[in-house]
Amino acid sequence: MSKKDFKRYTVTAALPYANGPIHIGHIAGAYLPADTYVRYLRLKGEDVAFVCGSDEHGVAITIGAKKEGVSPKAFVDKYHELMKKAFQDFGISFDIYSRTSNKIHYETAQAFFKTIDAQNIFLEETSDQYFDEQEGIFLADRYIAGTCPNCGHTNAYGDQCEKCGTSLSPRQLINPRSTVSGNTPVLKPTKHWYFPLDKFEGWLKEWLLEGHKDDWKTNVYGQCRSWIEQGLQPRSITRDLEWGIPVPREDGKGKVLYVWFDAPIGYISATKELKGADWEKYWKDKDTRLIHFIGKDNIVFHCIIFPAMLKAEGSFILPDNVPANEFLNLEGDKISTSRNHAVWLHEYLQDFPGRRDELRYMLTSISPETKDADFTWKDYQQKVNSELVAILGNFVNRVMVLTWKFFEGKVPSAHELPNTNEKRKRILDLYNQAHTDLSKSVIDMAAALDDFRFREAQFHMMNLARVGNKFLADTEPWKLAKEDMEAVGCIMNYALTVVGNIAIACEPFLPDTAKNISAQLNQDLTAAAVKFWKEKTLVEPVVPGHVLSAASLLFKNVEDIEIEQQVEKLKKSKPSAMSTPVAENPVPPLKPTITFDDFAKLDIRIGTIKAAEKMEKSDKLLKLTVDSGVDVRTILSGIAKYYTAEEMVGKQVTFIANLAPRKMMGIESQGMILMAEDGDGKLRLLQPNEVVRPGSAVS
Ligand code: MF3
Ligand code: ZN
Repeated sequence: MSKKDFKRYTVTAALPYANGPIHIGHIAGAYLPADTYVRYLRLKGEDVAFVCGSDEHGVAITIGAKKEGVSPKAFVDKYHELMKKAFQDFGISFDIYSRTSNKIHYETAQAFFKTIDAQNIFLEETSDQYFDEQEGIFLADRYIAGTCPNCGHTNAYGDQCEKCGTSLSPRQLINPRSTVSGNTPVLKPTKHWYFPLDKFEGWLKEWLLEGHKDDWKTNVYGQCRSWIEQGLQPRSITRDLEWGIPVPREDGKGKVLYVWFDAPIGYISATKELKGADWEKYWKDKDTRLIHFIGKDNIVFHCIIFPAMLKAEGSFILPDNVPANEFLNLEGDKISTSRNHAVWLHEYLQDFPGRRDELRYMLTSISPETKDADFTWKDYQQKVNSELVAILGNFVNRVMVLTWKFFEGKVPSAHELPNTNEKRKRILDLYNQAHTDLSKSVIDMAAALDDFRFREAQFHMMNLARVGNKFLADTEPWKLAKEDMEAVGCIMNYALTVVGNIAIACEPFLPDTAKNISAQLNQDLTAAAVKFWKEKTLVEPVVPGHVLSAASLLFKNVEDIEIEQQVEKLKKSKPSAMSTPVAENPVPPLKPTITFDDFAKLDIRIGTIKAAEKMEKSDKLLKLTVDSGVDVRTILSGIAKYYTAEEMVGKQVTFIANLAPRKMMGIESQGMILMAEDGDGKLRLLQPNEVVRPGSAVS
């Protein structure tokens, strides 16, 4: 928690690439925590600018446009509108959702470049890069494919081999080919500008490693530290592309700014668009607190590179916190656009109309704040039915119904209940206990919100309903009604007070529910809410004598059939109507003919996996212990993205048993597991179609 008092807040959420619809992984990663936080700030009366927009440059866009056979502009126009609408329909309360193809952004990004350039900070370097002569273009790393020098995989990309996980540069590929034309590219010299990140190392150590040791999340801080400690290098910030923001230099013709240079400046452009002449306060005043909400894949850009750019430019404030989340998986598997393994936001909104808060609740309660989390439909059903329906919905409804039943919907008066008999004494004790518990929950909730611990904050919010339910169950006003209506009035007044406090407390998490409850209370809670959030205290939002609206249920149960349909939908994994995933690569061409003797040299066997573990520093590699029939050996395999260590144990695999051992990440791999690679980039094991003895030879 930042100690300083700030006058205003600039809150950003990562600009998503305008290349496909929004899914729950995006929402859980950045947009929902940002929205929850911003709603909280606004309720406290803070001055906030909450900015976002579409990231419309880079090869993610040009590749997508090519696949759909449209221009990049037409492509981003389509997705920008879809994404903007999905966010709006879901109720993410951006103050502006802009886009990086706007004129104001071009001007802002170019001016930013020029300010740094005028200080002679950038480096210039000419180097040989691959050029596609037929297309007349320099090829971005992702547009070059070839054979991996490390594992022999024939479809490695210019930046990485997806099979063995090695990161590559295009010149390391054997037999490189352009994926645009299929031709062999040629090397041609080209000039680029570099940002000297290495020169900022000392400053980063002080500002980040020293300055934010205690207030940044450990997952964020740890990633930054390991980056900085590995040593920083100059980063190229220009590209030979047609789509993007032109480099504002005479000698930069035909080149554009690298997408990761222009995109974060998009936060600034969006603020300009939102605030007009007033924008500078939100970016240049030291009393403004800048906070970036992002997913973990964006950490280095927001914590290291962008701050260094801001520092170099010289006139901007720096992020005070970057509460990045880890990833969300779906039904035990990575969310994947190309395999259509995702819950798309627009589809959820169609399939579950009027149930936005249910998804917000679920995503916050499993929020991947400290480690990756898994979304399952079963869990969704359970959270909705046994928490939202059974705890929150049930409490509010009971209070409404009882108030109508006993007091014709009129809020009973609040007064000290004279302590005249044992039963009343007990009620007063229960009331005091409830009040203590509720007050503590409010304080804990606010503290968790201040600290970006949203799942905990939401838990404390729900505690208000838990305590409320218990209070009703213990005091049993429906029984007392026969003997002591004065006591019933006191109980119901307090229960309604709790309902009112819940309406206020749930607004950052469940904004529709907040509105719904205050409509049922038939009351404007604004003034009470300001006091509640400013002072972190229970308030008395419901006025005695006031008449409630009719009671209605806040949530309904999720039926088995509803989640079965969702699970079915995922299994089919058919391409969605909005994204048109196409095989990234054609089927690789045939290799030259070999003789039978060549083939006979290969010793291919079936083995059984005895143990498996994920290699620590790699998200690709699994370390497998294989019973080969002749020995037990270690084989490293780049399949961690497709199979978990647990599910590999017991499986039979096909492997090359006489491949010369090779060291990877300090461990010797004694063989190679064979896989089939589909155009979708996913690797699948080759297994015998019935279990065979380990060591069985394949011929
Ligand atoms: N478009 C990037 C992504 O989806 C995020 C850009 S964030 C910004 O990973 F800071 F550059 F805007
Ligand atoms: Zn490889």
